[in-house]
Amino acid sequence: MASRRRLCRRSLFAALLALLATSGVAFAQERPAPRTVELTLTAAPARLALVPGKPTDVFAFNGQVPGPTLEFREGDHVIIHFRNNLPEATTIHWHGLHIPAASDGSPLNPVAPGGTYDYIFTILPGSAGTYWYHPHPDRRTGYQIAKGLYGAIIIRAADDPLAGIPEQLLVLSDNRFLPDGEVDLPPHESPQEEIDEENGREGDVLFVNGQVMPTVSIRSGEVQRWRIVNAAAARVYRLALDGHELLQVGTDDGLFERPVPVNEIVLANAERVEVLVRGTGAPGSRAALRTLPYDRYVPQTRPANWNVPRDLLTLQYTADTPVAPVPVPSRLRPVPALDTAQATVRRFIVFSQGMIDGRKMDMRRVDVRARLGATEIWQIENVVGMDHPFHLHGFQFQVLDRNGVPEPFRAWKDMVNVRKHETVRFIVRFDDYPGKWMYHCHILDHEDEGMMGILEVTSPRRR
Ligand code: C2O
Ligand code: CU
Ligand code: CU
Repeated sequence: MASRRRLCRRSLFAALLALLATSGVAFAQERPAPRTVELTLTAAPARLALVPGKPTDVFAFNGQVPGPTLEFREGDHVIIHFRNNLPEATTIHWHGLHIPAASDGSPLNPVAPGGTYDYIFTILPGSAGTYWYHPHPDRRTGYQIAKGLYGAIIIRAADDPLAGIPEQLLVLSDNRFLPDGEVDLPPHESPQEEIDEENGREGDVLFVNGQVMPTVSIRSGEVQRWRIVNAAAARVYRLALDGHELLQVGTDDGLFERPVPVNEIVLANAERVEVLVRGTGAPGSRAALRTLPYDRYVPQTRPANWNVPRDLLTLQYTADTPVAPVPVPSRLRPVPALDTAQATVRRFIVFSQGMIDGRKMDMRRVDVRARLGATEIWQIENVVGMDHPFHLHGFQFQVLDRNGVPEPFRAWKDMVNVRKHETVRFIVRFDDYPGKWMYHCHILDHEDEGMMGILEVTSPRRR
């Protein structure tokens, strides 16, 4: 929950109603009424102990790194009062949310130092999932996220098929520090900066919710739902939990149709995943959540230790006697397929190193024009030898195929990692919200260097 979240009177009333409804006292059959959720986020410099013993000058949302976790329900009307107390312009982008362009926090709407902005949007039905928020100012996104500005968003559905299963939120991130404790952001044109520009900046300190190697406890037999956010600038995690098969239940924009058993999950930067962890270990035992080697690099700048697995957290079994595992539903929710026969436009987009279709971002240019309501198929071809994770603002899509191989199961996504020399196709429908929207490589250094384009969605009935 947002620590400084202020509920307005109307939402307090709605919350009371919801409480009554869930306590079974009255309105036992009612769904929670739509509420207005109003909160304040302030971005400001702070000094925090990110690594033991040495304070770091950070930028923080409400004084915290990561920022407060925001929880909304489908149907919520959200009003976020943002105050920029940073010494530079910024924005807040609500990564993955389908909301009006004026509230998207793109580089087109910077908030000046000392300025304020109200982000206002409604959480539409069907959007339950795990999202995140981060700044998105022109050329400074990587810098500001590295300084500490990122946080998670959880959106809940009234009819969540996994309601009642205990949850953990894991916000993964990495960072690099100088010996004096400050964030290591190498000087312009230094050799390290050149490597960061090529690979995307990675750090040797791996954080989970701002902590190094935290412990999550579980009782033998217990089933837990883990929501995992990759908030790193460039690191791709290949997640595996020692001795445990995972049940993947969802991805970027919510649940799959049914659970999928997996032994590992490749989570590119800015992607999210939901898994069920089944506590099959013995009381008192422990297991590590690891990230395994994943080669996303060009050989020239691949880090020497790229093939070393790293531990992220410890799963510690309590000494309690095992409980019987709760049954996992075999159907989660429908994910209706967008119909390829409805697609009226096909687009071909080429990712090369640092560029999209051979050019760099220009805020005054529109690269792609689309009609409001249109269904389109986009093909993203990566012509170079490193991965570039593609992201589209404002509209969720369904991946159709990768190198012609159909995607094994349907999911709503806002990210797709386009691997070395890979071609990915997805289908998208530009519903509800006209305006200008970014699409880009989500390696923050690439994005800041201009590996971004602008899509303009226009209504035929212009207002
Ligand atoms: Cu996560 Cu353009 O954003
Ligand atoms: Cu985004
Ligand atoms: Cu890239």
